[in-house]
Amino acid sequence: MNVMSRPVALDVSAIRAQFPILSETVRGKPLVFLDSAASAQKPRAVIDAMVWAMEHQYANVHRGLHWMSERTTESYEGTRDLVASLINARDRHEIVFTGNSTGAINLVAHSYGRGMMKPGQAVVISAMEHHSNIVPWQMLRDAHGIELRVAPITDAGELDFAAFEDLLRDGRVGLVSITHMSNVLGTYTPAERIVAVAHAYGAKVLFDGSQAIVHRRVDVQALNADFYVFTGHKLYGPTGIGVLWGRRELLDAMPPFLGGGDMIGSVTYERSTWAQVPHKFEAGTPAILESIGLGAAIRWVQDIGYDAIAAHEASLTDHALARIGGVAGVNVIGRAQDRGGVVSFTVDGAHAHDVATLLDRQGIAVRAGHHCAEPLMRRLGLDSTARASFGVYTTHEEIDALATALVRVREFFA
Ligand code: ALA
Repeated sequence: MNVMSRPVALDVSAIRAQFPILSETVRGKPLVFLDSAASAQKPRAVIDAMVWAMEHQYANVHRGLHWMSERTTESYEGTRDLVASLINARDRHEIVFTGNSTGAINLVAHSYGRGMMKPGQAVVISAMEHHSNIVPWQMLRDAHGIELRVAPITDAGELDFAAFEDLLRDGRVGLVSITHMSNVLGTYTPAERIVAVAHAYGAKVLFDGSQAIVHRRVDVQALNADFYVFTGHKLYGPTGIGVLWGRRELLDAMPPFLGGGDMIGSVTYERSTWAQVPHKFEAGTPAILESIGLGAAIRWVQDIGYDAIAAHEASLTDHALARIGGVAGVNVIGRAQDRGGVVSFTVDGAHAHDVATLLDRQGIAVRAGHHCAEPLMRRLGLDSTARASFGVYTTHEEIDALATALVRVREFFA
């Protein structure tokens, strides 16, 4: 890397100053927000963009022939362009807006799964999936005779690649649907290898990028995947909007999922025809304001740059593994080599819910429970963990505060 392309170190104070909520106090203590994997906080740029639209430029999209509708349509479709540039999609028509990642996976399960897979084919997931990448496939299995196969993970929390490949060998797998980064273990899956092997056996690949895209640049063309999904609210944008990227030829061939307004070519009582992609998959009034917020979030992330984000978060994660893992009686769960800014842990003698409650009394927000990944918990021999997760605004001092607080939690339970 030459000097000119070296990422500029993040000015975390300047970034934090853009998040109004980070100046709040909780129970009389400064907020230490370590729950960004559940939902990230919102920068002023996102808040202002949504408020500005509501105050100055808002109407329904794609429908009106009036100025307000045209401008709002430009904003909505402008976010599609921003998403395409964010993930380096070849074609803006490959970007479908959904409600969230769950909506995007359900769309693929219904439209690709029921519409294009044959009974007797299989879907492969991994043992570290969120429920949103398990349940839709169970529903497909039960409705459409699709087999559901689960690729195991190692004790370190990495995909058991040999076992994964074994699941593909009979050539019956139509789709691999797998996380790009685990929301519990922080593990990045070896995406390029997964795609290469899956394609060699004739399977398509969907990545759940809900966590991954927050921390590192995603390039869907370089990945060579078939579908990639993510949600806006973890990427510093609003809730209520998510993204399905799919290869154009696949999306063109897939039947619609939801029927209604805006997804049609024409309608008679006898039959309807469908709009072109992406509108074929966007029935009903979409998440207009949310698209404006997502657009602002993407611009904001791109202004900071993924090189700087990834470098900051790698440093945070190393620090967290050392500091949290260094507290006696605290056990870090998951030891993947390639990981992002999510650290799950247990505390000897204490339930994760009690740990989170005691941390909350010190102003520290972590998530505790099964993290919508019950089968993974069972694989780990646990019923729950506490989880600290980081965003671009997280500081090393906040991780120190967590480590200090965990010492107190240990003392309390001793
Ligand atoms: N899927 C989100 C999480 O991991 C809600 O917390």
